[in-house]
Amino acid sequence: MLEPFKERIYVTRPVFPTIDEVTEKLRDIWAAKWLTNNGPQHTMLERELTDFLKVPCLSLFNNGTIALIVACQSLRLSGDVITTPFTFAATPHILNWNNITPIFCDIDAETMNIDADKIESMITPQTTAILAVHVFGTPCNVEKIQEVADRYGLRVVYDAAHAFGVELGNRGIGTFGDISMFSFHATKLYHTVEGGALVMKDNHVKQRIDLLKNFGIKNEEEVVMPGINGKLDEVRAAIGRIMLNYVESERRKRIRLHEIYNEEFADVEGLTLMPKVAADVKLNYQYYVVRVDEKIFGRSRDFVYDELRNYNVYARKYFHPLCSEFTCYRQLNSSRAENLPIANVVGQQVLSLPMYGDLDEDTVRKICAIIKSFRR
Ligand SMILES: Cc1ncc(COP(=O)(O)O)c(C=O)c1O
Repeated sequence: MLEPFKERIYVTRPVFPTIDEVTEKLRDIWAAKWLTNNGPQHTMLERELTDFLKVPCLSLFNNGTIALIVACQSLRLSGDVITTPFTFAATPHILNWNNITPIFCDIDAETMNIDADKIESMITPQTTAILAVHVFGTPCNVEKIQEVADRYGLRVVYDAAHAFGVELGNRGIGTFGDISMFSFHATKLYHTVEGGALVMKDNHVKQRIDLLKNFGIKNEEEVVMPGINGKLDEVRAAIGRIMLNYVESERRKRIRLHEIYNEEFADVEGLTLMPKVAADVKLNYQYYVVRVDEKIFGRSRDFVYDELRNYNVYARKYFHPLCSEFTCYRQLNSSRAENLPIANVVGQQVLSLPMYGDLDEDTVRKICAIIKSFRR
């Protein structure tokens, strides 16, 4: 038996800027005496991210969940919205917070994203939009989704929480659909500790979103809509400006770790690796996910997950349980297992393995050796 790791290896670890870089920026904030409400750091970060993400317009938020709630408000969505069950809890929850019913559509077996070919069969007169997720940063079938949406007059919102810096044919992933959300949570490839952004097609939409994230306050005399507090403060905006300098080096380190996982697992029957993407897709390599087919590998995903803990490796079952299995959604018609055959299989097989720039290559090789030793 291989020796367990001496220290716990978690699935991810936040990227930290140096304390000196943060101190320097804090001095700027202290000098400006401006802590929140559209300060200079906020203004500069919006501009820098608009360029970095290759999008027309961007509005910063205090987290991705509030940003998505506001996206639904800004598009005045109601009724039913078609979405995926294979995502983080926030995706269907933000619909619920808008009094919208999530309608779960099955996923594609390869990309694990919403199956664009099945969306049409789920549309009813109550449907107002499609909320799709670029799961693990793999782009959705954006063309097909837009084509269906256009035919039925539906809005398209992308939860791009995992897709920071992803590009499709040299276009920022945020340029597809009506609005996309990016999460800047601490565990993401790029972060502002907590934070997020919406990206949209034009300034007119941005103005409405900017009002909604500031209580609907237009000026000292007028409150024009029932908004919320979605503002990102100056300290986190400043950290976000520093973190932009870390994205490319962190991405490069993760590419190398992806290569090692792929190499080590190439001939292991019963393990499905990250989906292959078209040559014109630029990925961010944020996650490394495998699927364990118990019939072929000889061990279940749950066995691998439990056994890895004995070696001090803390993998995660992303995304299990499916959102359609949550007590708040499982009574929905669309949550029935027979409606979601692929999602139910993937949810039982998927395992997210340690992935962060500081992880050393030998550790990854050893994690692979441990997993391979489980095979029967
Ligand atoms: C797919 C997905 N959607 C939404 C969110 C919510 O983003 P935030 O944590 O910034 O609120 C997350 C994760 O954090 C996520 O993974």
